Amino acid sequence: MTTLRHYLQFNDCSRSEIEYLFARAQWIKDRLRQGQPHHPLQNKTLAMIFEKSSTRTRVSFETGMGQLGGNVICLSKNDIQMARGETVEDTARVLSRMVDIVMIRTYAQTMVETFAAHSRVPIINGLTNEYHPCQVLADIFTFIEHRGPITGKTVVWIGDPNNVFYTWLQAAVLLDFKVHLSTPPGYPVDDTRITAAERARLETFADPFDAVRNAALVTTDVWTSMGFEAENDQRRRDFQQWQVNTALMKQAADDAVFMHCLPAHRGEEVTDDVIDGAQSLVWDEAENRMHAQKALLEFLLVGLQKSD
Ligand code: CP
Ligand code: NVA
Repeated sequence: MTTLRHYLQFNDCSRSEIEYLFARAQWIKDRLRQGQPHHPLQNKTLAMIFEKSSTRTRVSFETGMGQLGGNVICLSKNDIQMARGETVEDTARVLSRMVDIVMIRTYAQTMVETFAAHSRVPIINGLTNEYHPCQVLADIFTFIEHRGPITGKTVVWIGDPNNVFYTWLQAAVLLDFKVHLSTPPGYPVDDTRITAAERARLETFADPFDAVRNAALVTTDVWTSMGFEAENDQRRRDFQQWQVNTALMKQAADDAVFMHCLPAHRGEEVTDDVIDGAQSLVWDEAENRMHAQKALLEFLLVGLQKSD
C-alpha cells in the first residue's frame, strides 16, 4: 500500500523524488526502446477528465498507461454529469471508488485541489490556468537527456507568463536554476502568486535580446492560452516583438536549446526556422511527455522502484 499522493503542482514532489522520476523515465524509455515489456500497473485504471482540448496530454497518458499494463477511461466535459451540475466533490467521491488514479485538465487550479481533497486516489494536474506540472517534468527530463544537469543553468522564457511559466519558476527553486523572463508591458508576473524563493530565482528584462544572453535553454508558448481567447486580438498586437526567431536565438549560448510545449502558433511566438532548426528539441520534448508521465503514474500508484 503506497501513501496517497497527488501531483497538482511541480513542487508537490521533493527534489529527490523529481530526480528519481527523471532517472526512472530514462529507464522506462530505454526499456521500451529495447522492446522489453514493463507492466507494473496491471488491473489499474486511469480516468482522465478533459475540460479543455488536448493532443499530447491525452495521447501520452493513454498510450503510456496502456504500455504499463493498465486501462484508461477518457471523459470529456460533456460526457459526464459535472456538465449538468454534479459537484466536483461528488464526482471525486464516486470516481475514486472505481478507478485507481485520475488525471484532470481544467480551468481553475482550485478545481483540481477540491477534487483531490475528496478523492481516495491520486490526482494528476494535466494543465490548469495556473500550472502545467507534467509539461515541465518532461521538459527538464528532455534538457537533461541532451545537455546534462539543469542546476546552475539559465532558462529563458519569452512572452506570456502563463501556466507553463509559473511551473518553470517552481522547478527553478526545487532544482536550483535561474529563470530570465521578457514579457511585453502590461503582462507582468503576478507577484501575489510567487514565493520569495521563486522571486529570487527570477530576473525580468524589458528587451528579449537582453534576456537570452548566455541562455542554456530558450522557451516560449502561445501568446494566448486556452481560456483567454477573448484577448486574442489584443495579445497578437502586444506580443509582436516577443517572437523567438533566428536573430534572438543567436544571442543565446552556442549550445542553447529551444523548447516549446506545443501546440505552436508558427509565425507568432516562434518562427519555422527556429522550431524546425538544429537547436529545437520540441519533438523529443513531446515524446518525453509519455516517458515522464509513465514514471509519474508508476510512482503515484506503486511507489519508488529499483531500476535494474
Ligand atoms: N503540451 C500540451 O499539453 O499539449 P496538449 O494541449 O496537446 O495536451
Ligand atoms: N499555455 C498553453 C499550454 C497548452 C499546452 C495553454 O494553457 O493553452
